[in-house]
Amino acid sequence: MEELMKIEGLKMYFGGLKAIDGFDLTVNKGETLGIIGPNGAGKTTLFNAICGVYKPTAGKVTLEGKEITGTPAYKMAKMGFARTFQISKPLRGLTIFDNVLAAAGVHDYTGIGSYFHKSHTPEVEQKVEEVIYETGLAGVANKKASDVSLGYLRRLEIARALVTDPKLILLDEPCAGLSNFAINEITDLILHLKEQKRSIVLIEHNLPLTMKVCDRITVLSYGKKICEGTPEYVKNDKQVIEAYLGEEDKD
Ligand SMILES: Nc1ncnc2c1ncn2[C@@H]1O[C@H](COP(=O)(O)OP(=O)(O)OP(=O)(O)O)[C@@H](O)[C@H]1O
Ligand SMILES: [Mg+2]
Repeated sequence: MEELMKIEGLKMYFGGLKAIDGFDLTVNKGETLGIIGPNGAGKTTLFNAICGVYKPTAGKVTLEGKEITGTPAYKMAKMGFARTFQISKPLRGLTIFDNVLAAAGVHDYTGIGSYFHKSHTPEVEQKVEEVIYETGLAGVANKKASDVSLGYLRRLEIARALVTDPKLILLDEPCAGLSNFAINEITDLILHLKEQKRSIVLIEHNLPLTMKVCDRITVLSYGKKICEGTPEYVKNDKQVIEAYLGEEDKD
């Protein structure tokens, strides 16, 4: 197995709060790795520390052997990262198509401002169309983002990630707040990405989904890894059951 991303000794402190407290992780090429853990475990903070939203307090992140620790967020797409957010952040006044098109510009332009000023090539438009079909958004491509349901917005997030041809896709709770029907659609989409041998890190509270799509699962609790392994292994781990699955049962 070929190593894609490696995290070593990562710490992310907010004053006295140790949100990530010494975390190691290796993600292999073509792998779907799940990250689970109770609310506040540090999952989103982990993505933020990887993707340059925060500068880690300590530790090292490498992508294909190249150190990228602390690279600012706006450069992360160029480094090969694409990330979706727990809370959907579309450009609400633009159509679904234009939202994906705006994301497609990341390698060439600096962002949305330049998207409006530069003309895009037919190749880019073609690519956007392909991604729109792939993510099941063709039926709403011409609707404004503000006029579609959350299920479509989640798929839009994934489309915006895919159109950048990322080396690694980070998905932060793509099923949060969705109906069972929409969850099944996202599950199918992730399975499709997996078939294409994409490399994915998935944060998800939905355990059946995580167990179904992930090759390996890492369990975070209070900023530390408490377990890692195959879905079957993690499911039967005593510490995991206590820290996480037990908590889920209480809901
Ligand atoms: N910018 C910040 N400043 C201060 N504390 C923060 C900041 N971001 C996150 N935290 C804290 O870090 C801890 C981890 O939060 P984080 O959002 O990473 O958890 P999470 O595992 O993603 O939880 P959830 O499952 O609810 O999304 C929490 O205690 C949170 O309050
Ligand atoms: Mg979170």
